[in-house]
Formats: sequence, C-alpha cells, structure tokens
Amino acid sequence: MVRKAVIPCAGLGTRFLPATLAVPKELLPIDRKPAIQHIVADLVECGVDTVVLVISRGKEALLHYFLDDHRLAGKRLPPELTQSIEELALLRERVNVVAVYQEKPLGLGHAVLCAAPVVGDEPFLLALPDDHFRPSPTRQLVEAWEKYGKGAVALLEVPNEDVPRFGIVSVEREETPFLLLNDAVEKPTLEAAPSRLAIMGRYLFPPKVFEYLRNTPPGINSEIQLTDSMKTLAQKEGLVGVPVSGEYLDIGTWDSYVRTLMRLGLEDPAFREFLTRHLH
Ligand code: G1P
Repeated sequence: MVRKAVIPCAGLGTRFLPATLAVPKELLPIDRKPAIQHIVADLVECGVDTVVLVISRGKEALLHYFLDDHRLAGKRLPPELTQSIEELALLRERVNVVAVYQEKPLGLGHAVLCAAPVVGDEPFLLALPDDHFRPSPTRQLVEAWEKYGKGAVALLEVPNEDVPRFGIVSVEREETPFLLLNDAVEKPTLEAAPSRLAIMGRYLFPPKVFEYLRNTPPGINSEIQLTDSMKTLAQKEGLVGVPVSGEYLDIGTWDSYVRTLMRLGLEDPAFREFLTRHLH
C-alpha cells in the first residue's frame, strides 16, 4: 500500500509575479478548482491518506485550504457552488494534509528530503504541481510498484527542442506497458541526452531514495537534483518508467497556464459558447 504523498510547493512562483507575492501559485485555479486540489484528489483516488506539502514562508495558505472551514456554514449558495464546496469538504475528510518547510531554495531533491521525517520508512508518491495529465498516470505508478517493488516515474516523449528543459531517462528494456530504466540525467543538452523520454512530474519512490538524496551533491544550477538521486536508484535498485498515454497540461509558465485554462474552458459546455463569443 502506498499511503503517503509529497507535493513540493516551496517555490516563489517567480514566473507568476506579482500575483505570487500574495497567492501561492499552486492555488491558482484551473478548471474552476485550485491546481493543488486536482493533484490531491488524484492522489487520494489512488489510495493516499496523508499528503505532505513542502512549503516556504508565506505559503501557509496552501495548508489552510485543506483545513475544515466553517465560514460558509448556513450560507445559501447556487447548486453548482454547493456541489464544489461539498466536494472539497469530502476531500478534506479523506486526507490528512500536513506541511513541512524548506527553509532554503536548495533544489527539488532537497525539497523532497525535507519531507523525510514525515514520510518515514514507507514508499511515497511525489507530484509536481505544475504538471497535470488526463488521464492521470498515478495509478499506473502504483501498479508498477505493486508489480516490481521498485520506484517508478511518468515519462513523455518530447520534441528535440524541449529535451534540455527536463530530466531525461535511458531505457534498458521494455516490459509493456512499462519500461525498465538504467539512467537519468537532469536537463542534458540534446547531444548528451540518452533519449527523448522526459521525466514528468509524477513519481513513486521507495524510502531508500532519501538516503541517496542525502548523498547527492549539488548538480546542475548548483541545486540538489532529484534526478541525480534517481540515477543512483536506477543503477542500484532499478527504476520503472510509465509512459504517459494521455494529454499533458503544463501550468508552469504564464503561456502554458493560459493555454490550459483555454483548453479546459472550451471543453466546459457551460463556458464554451461564452469563450468563443469573446475570443477574437
Ligand atoms: C523538474 C525536474 C525535471 C522534470 C520536470 C518535469 O524540473 O527537475 O527532472 O523533468 O520537473 O516538469 P523543473 O521544471 O522544476 O525545472
């Protein structure tokens, strides 16, 4: 059973300044709900009962979002709002959300390590809140864990020009629908990249990854890179790749965020006509 999950949310949200001076980026809505809610709901659907948010000073609103809230008690709301409030209340009941601090921005690997005291000696899911997928690959990560007892990571083949933006893996062999991996490199040049299979922001790790992270020196951009510890994991214990079958909805930049909002808005029957009328 994989019961715990970690969501790194300590970043300043520089690309979304000045809004992120007041609102954590992860609370910006997509599809009418804060992005973080989509991620937590997906994790809970896959069996998670405890979510560890790795935050930094000023991002406490993320934790508060998952606490009980009586401000709306007795208020009359339109049915669609009542429904979303009930959905959130149900989610809050099903999951225990806690926060730990990453006090210095030392990299994604360091952020994950900050969650170690809460995760303890258990496997855990890791979700990066900028990356959204339809359908979600999380369940397949759990299936990979159940089948192999090894860490797993979601992968997507990306065009050449995007290779240097991602962690890239090397495949040892295929065991459909999974890939067995033997290497991972963070943000390689196209020439140095072992493939075009990019690490997407969904992972499942055995607790041993914390030990590898503690021994990982700063890598590219002088940050402690999660991908560098995955290289050790792949080589010492094996790592399973889960190709993402559906659609990748990126919300990491303003452009990709707006594109995702538009795409989801155009699919919403209540919103499609309004949007098409006003988009020129
Ligand atoms: C992070 C990871 C990278 C991964 C990417 C997915 O990079 O370090 O390996 O491919 O997320 O979105 P970042 O986007 O934080 O630069």
